[in-house]
Parts: sequence; structure tokens; C-alpha cells
Amino acid sequence: MSFRILVLATSLILASLPAQAQLSGTVRSAREGAMEGVLVSAQRDGSNMTVTVVSDAQGHFAFPANRVGPGRHALSIRAAGYNLASPATVAVQGPTSAALELAPTDDLASQLTNAEWVASMPGTDAEKDFLRNCVNCHTLRQPLFSTHDLAEFVAVQERMSTYAPASGLHIPQHPLADRVANQGPAAAAARLAVFQRQAAHLARVNLGNRESWPYPLHPFPRPSGRATRVVITEYDLPEPTRMPHDVVLTGDGTVWYNSFTEQVLGRLNPATGEVREFRVPELKPEAPKGSLALRPDPEGQLWMGLSYQGGVARFNPATESFRMYPLPANLQANHTQTTEVEPRHMQVDGKVWIEDSGTYSIYQMDVATGAIQVHQPFPIPSPNIYDITTDPQNNVYFTVFGRGDVGRVDARTGQIRTWPTPTPNSSPRRGTLDERGRFWFGEYAGNRIGMFDTRTETFREFTPPTPYSFPYDAVADRNGEVWSGNMMTDRITRLNPESGQMVEYPLPRSTNVRRVFVDNSTTPVTFWVGSNHGASVVRLEPLD
Ligand code: HEC
Repeated sequence: MSFRILVLATSLILASLPAQAQLSGTVRSAREGAMEGVLVSAQRDGSNMTVTVVSDAQGHFAFPANRVGPGRHALSIRAAGYNLASPATVAVQGPTSAALELAPTDDLASQLTNAEWVASMPGTDAEKDFLRNCVNCHTLRQPLFSTHDLAEFVAVQERMSTYAPASGLHIPQHPLADRVANQGPAAAAARLAVFQRQAAHLARVNLGNRESWPYPLHPFPRPSGRATRVVITEYDLPEPTRMPHDVVLTGDGTVWYNSFTEQVLGRLNPATGEVREFRVPELKPEAPKGSLALRPDPEGQLWMGLSYQGGVARFNPATESFRMYPLPANLQANHTQTTEVEPRHMQVDGKVWIEDSGTYSIYQMDVATGAIQVHQPFPIPSPNIYDITTDPQNNVYFTVFGRGDVGRVDARTGQIRTWPTPTPNSSPRRGTLDERGRFWFGEYAGNRIGMFDTRTETFREFTPPTPYSFPYDAVADRNGEVWSGNMMTDRITRLNPESGQMVEYPLPRSTNVRRVFVDNSTTPVTFWVGSNHGASVVRLEPLD
């Protein structure tokens, strides 16, 4: 068969199989020629799914055949310093090629990640450190694009401190108990001094009354090599107020998410993008709404930590109904905050673990009777306790966010032990024990991925390559590699603990990352996360 006939035959076959339509092409700019590390996204008209691939060293990109179906697709890119000049859309019908032209942007400021802002601005790391706290609720765009002076910033910070942590720009919430109101004059003066020091820094680095920022803006280098070998799918959720704090999968491949400020549990079909939502009953209508932790139990039922609602919920996907577990009256207070729940090994003794960030307590609840045993690792005033994770005997390990330790409560004796992380005051935030008895967690203030080997009682720490990452969470996959994400860099870190090597996959949009999750049933594994401020669920499939 001659070459011409072969080509003709191939295109006839592809044309008769529109479901296999495929999109590929090139990315270039006048300044750089062919460009590596540009994120290219395609969203079909009317779909809630956006698929993203990354250009390679030759400036070439290709969407897998089964991910971009026939139809009209809106195209977008992410590459700091550039906008997509053309084309804005592409009609896919059979194998389709697109030549993307990028032009320099005149609004680099709107393209910077939180970490790039912190790296660009003047000041010492100690002066900038508090900016880590602002990104819990919104990006640094709010303060940095503002025109406030020092005095106004003090007032802004006073107002920010009245919001419950379970807040977003769309849904600010106020806790029932205002702890600040109970402070004495000395504590109030110390607080004001901190606000003034921070406000002085903010007024130095924001837009203010200037034409532009008084320092050059420096984006980090674009991803290259292995970090470009990835396919990312982003599923937009039905309402912009959704804050999918935790995203998890059950064994049947169903994707579940909660909302940080709303009584919502959502179910996502990853093949179609179809979403169905369930209203979580309220326990305390006057308290802030929403849930922080979402974890499946061994039966595939979903447990939710209902934070200010003062209890936990268990959802049965078969009956589509909730069973509610409010804390008993003697454990309820205005500052109750049952953020975390851990049911992974409840079959061992019929107990789930609950963490209360309001009283710094860890509860061991008998699921059949609702009886609760209280464990308090530290006397009050206690440093803040954060995540909990269990071993196969259903002993619980916890992170001490308010300081820099991990701890353990023995399920049978109640004995409590703690171990300080090598980096002092590292604020370990969330994490999960792996099958080899290693507790992986994000060291938020320590800017490291931490690991505590529960068998040898030793630590290891790894610093992600991108500056100011401040890892939030970490989880090991079935191959022993570790995945982590954060609220600063819009990058997902994949760590090989044996070699210490890390790959950082770029995300297509500004993505505030909380719980990280790995689906071990695929090859390679698939990484899932909620875009906590972006009302979407993100699936990241590495190609190797
Ligand atoms: C607990 C949640 C939360 C935290 C933490 C938070 N903010 Fe906010 N922020 C909000 C909400 C909600 C809004 C919108 C409503 C408003 O303006 O009060 C907002 C709006 C803003 C605005 C725009 C409104 C204005 O008055 O200019 C600025 C500036 C701002 N925040 C600065 C900060 C800074 C600086 C920090 C960190 C020191 C911070 N925020 C931390 C919740 C928070």
C-alpha cells in the first residue's frame, strides 16, 4: 500500500469514529518561539468539564483521544506574562490541530500566584510570614490590589479576625463565641501591636495610591520536563459558593465533596461531570454552617466533621440518608468545633475518632451507643490540635498545629504521647498514615512535607522546590510516593522519598488546596483535590 493510500485510509477510519476526536497543536510567542510549560485548556460548549494539558519542550501539546470530544471548545492558557492571542475557540471534528499564538500581557499582577507575590515583595521572611493566614479565606489579591493605608489596614484586620475560619468571600460567617471579646486589656494591646506591625508591611507592598506596585513582579519559571506530562480535568460545581474543602473517592470510583461553609454533600460522576447534591441536616441553626473533614469508612459510607454545628454526620449512599451524631450536651459550647472525623478503622472496635478544635479535645465515639470518651493531650491553654488519622489497630495519631508535634492516643489505654518535629513550631496541619506505618503530613509553617515513622519513632522532612509552598496536607500512594498540595503555589508536589526527588505539576487556575487524595486503583495513580475557593473539583492524572 502506498503512503498516500495509507494516510487516506487512516483519516477515513478516524472520521467515521467521531468519539475519538483528538486535539493537538503547538504553542509559540514572538518573544520565545516554541514554548514549554504552557497550560492549554479546552472546555466544550455547555460542559462543566475543562481539560488541560501542558506543552512540551518543542511547544507541542496533545489531548488524549478520549478526553476532548467533537464540538466547539473554548481554549485558554496559563503562562505567567502571556495571554492567548489566538485562537479563542476550536471546532473539533476528527483529529484537529491548533496553532496557539501567545502575546505579552499588560496585567501580570492578575496572573501571579500567592507564592509569587510573597517572593516578589520586599521585606524579610519574618515580616511576610503572617500572609500565610490571609490565604485561608481568599488570595492575596484582596490586600495587594487595595488602596488602604496603615490605619485602614488595622481596621481591615480587626474585621477579618471577627470571621470564623469557616468563611469564604461569598459566605462570611461569625462564630457564636467571640473569644476576642473575652480578652483582658493586656492581650488586646498586644493584639493591636501585632496588627500595626502587619499593617505597616501591607501598606508598604499594596497598590496604595501608586500607579503600580513599588517593586518588580517576578513569576517563577514555567514547569518543564516531567512536570508537563500530565492531564488535568476540572469539574465546575453547580454553585459558585461551593467550597469543596475535602474531596474523596469511595471504592466504586464515585467522587464525593463537602462544602466548608454550607450544609452540602456532593456526588460527582467523573466520566460525565454530572453532580448530585444532598442537604446535610443542621444541628445548631444559629451556628456557622459547613464541614471541614470528609472521610469514607470501610463500608463506603461518608463521615463529615460538622465543625461549629457540634457533631458529625454519616451518609449512607445506598439509602441516600444521613445519620446525625450531635455531641452530647455536656460537650457542647459556643466554641465547639468538631472539624475532623476519622472512621477508617472503625471495624476494629466500633469506634470513630473526632477532633474538636474549639476545646482541643480528641473524642473516641462508640458508633452503636454514641458514648464518647474524651482525651485532652494538653492542659488548657492548649496548643491547637488539628488532624487525626488511625493505624490498623484504630489507635489515633494527631497533629499539633498550634506548636510543632505529632501525637498518639492509644485506643485501649488512652495513653497519650507526643513527639516534636525536627523543625520547631512547624505547625503540622493535615495528614494520613500509610500502610507502612508512616504518618505523612504538611508542615504549614515549617514549609516542609513531614513524615513520622510510627515504628522507629523517627522523622524525615522534605522542602518543596517552589518557595513559600507551606504544605497543607500529604498522602502516600500505593507505590510509596507522596502527594502534597498547598494554598500558595497552584502546584501539586509528587515526592519520591527514596530519592528525595520532587515533581511539581502546575494547576490551570488559582487553586486553594486542602485535603489531598490519591486513587490507587488506576495506573499511574490519580490525584484528586477540591479547589476550595474555586468551586470546582480537580483530577490530576500523571502520564508516568
Ligand atoms: C476567616 C476568613 C478571612 C481571613 C483569615 C482573612 N480574610 Fe480578608 N476577607 C474575608 C472576607 C469574608 C472578606 C469580604 C468581606 C469583607 O470585606 O469583610 C474579606 C475581604 C478582604 C479585603 C477586601 C475588603 C477591604 O476592606 O478592602 C481585604 C483587603 C482583606 N480581606 C485583607 C485580609 C488580610 C490582609 C488578611 C490576612 C492578614 C485577611 N484578609 C484574612 C475573610 C478573611
